[in-house]
Amino acid sequence: MKRAFLAALGLATGFAMPATAQDIKVGLLLPFSGVYAALGNDIEAGFTTALEQFGSETAATFEIVREDTEVKPPVALAKAKKLILQDKVDVISGIVSSGVLGAVRDMVHGAGVPLIVANAGNDEATGEACSPYITRMSFSNGQVNRPMGQWMYDQGIRKVYTLAPDYAAGRQMIDGFVQTFTAAGGEIVGQDFTPFQKTQDFGPYMAQAKSSGAEAVFVFYAGGEAISFVKQYDSFGLKAELPLYGSGFLTSSLYVNAQGPAAEGVITALHYVPTIDSPANAQFVEAFTAKTGRVPSEFAVHGYDAGRALIEAVKAGATDRESLANALRQVRFDGPRGALSIDPATNNIVQPIYVYETVAGTDGLTQKVLAELPAEADPVNGCEMAAPVSN
Ligand code: PHB
Repeated sequence: MKRAFLAALGLATGFAMPATAQDIKVGLLLPFSGVYAALGNDIEAGFTTALEQFGSETAATFEIVREDTEVKPPVALAKAKKLILQDKVDVISGIVSSGVLGAVRDMVHGAGVPLIVANAGNDEATGEACSPYITRMSFSNGQVNRPMGQWMYDQGIRKVYTLAPDYAAGRQMIDGFVQTFTAAGGEIVGQDFTPFQKTQDFGPYMAQAKSSGAEAVFVFYAGGEAISFVKQYDSFGLKAELPLYGSGFLTSSLYVNAQGPAAEGVITALHYVPTIDSPANAQFVEAFTAKTGRVPSEFAVHGYDAGRALIEAVKAGATDRESLANALRQVRFDGPRGALSIDPATNNIVQPIYVYETVAGTDGLTQKVLAELPAEADPVNGCEMAAPVSN
């Protein structure tokens, strides 16, 4: 089966496998159904792109066991248990929802299984609930949104209304923005948290924003909810009157073309856009597009960098759960997003944030970078990182 997977990746041909080649069993824990299904698919495609591109740098073979978390914390916890106890994986990667990450944290920490987070931004997982077994290669919810508070204030915006789904990520993303916007002198004139995965009609919330006296609206929505929200914001007639801002997942390259012209002019901030002008990104965009027929999103890059981090850890000599956990925390490389490193105080990634506007391009909508804001490590948020696990 492992050979079959390698062959499918095109890695086996022409590579002399030593008799002692190490087998690494990877559990991919992702939503393949529900509002975040497209995100899970893009992360998986990014992960396998990295194995194809960098796998031959090590003699190890990588076997993937994939499990669908849906967007349901109890389902995800059951799947994590299965991967750890039954499949006996060496490492887990994936996890899209902050709620799911909160649910599986104690299980992976207690079992001592390394987890490479490939999306979920849950601040607590690299804050008070941090673990030497959890390394995040994606972003934290606060990290993506804090820079935008100051940036919007600097653009002259003083009164903002916020909206987000009512779960950990929605609350933490908005908190990050509010912290810096109010510290700069801005005012939050109203807030709503909409029932997660249940809200079809955002009209009543938009009506509240309209009558609030706000000069702009700042939101976090992702996946299927982002598509509906952006379309409804435009058809409600709010876009011209109340400019729409948010964290960049709102207008992700993964689904911006499903939003269509409604997304034009929306300004958001994120740690990756496919238009980043660098050789490492050009190479990634080319490899990913050749494989999937679409440009990579931030989700694809999380999967790609998680796969690459795993290979780097194996190249550094890691062989089992403990040594993998230890090596993963020390990974650093230049990737499609720029220079990446892991903050040893929290195990969260340190990376720059890009403010971008969604604009019409020659091939549909594209991302125009307006500002690159410097990389900044998260505050430790109560993380007391245990001494590195022994090798
Ligand atoms: C999260 O739940 O942490 C989350 C989900 C989707 C995103 C970003 C963050 O696009």
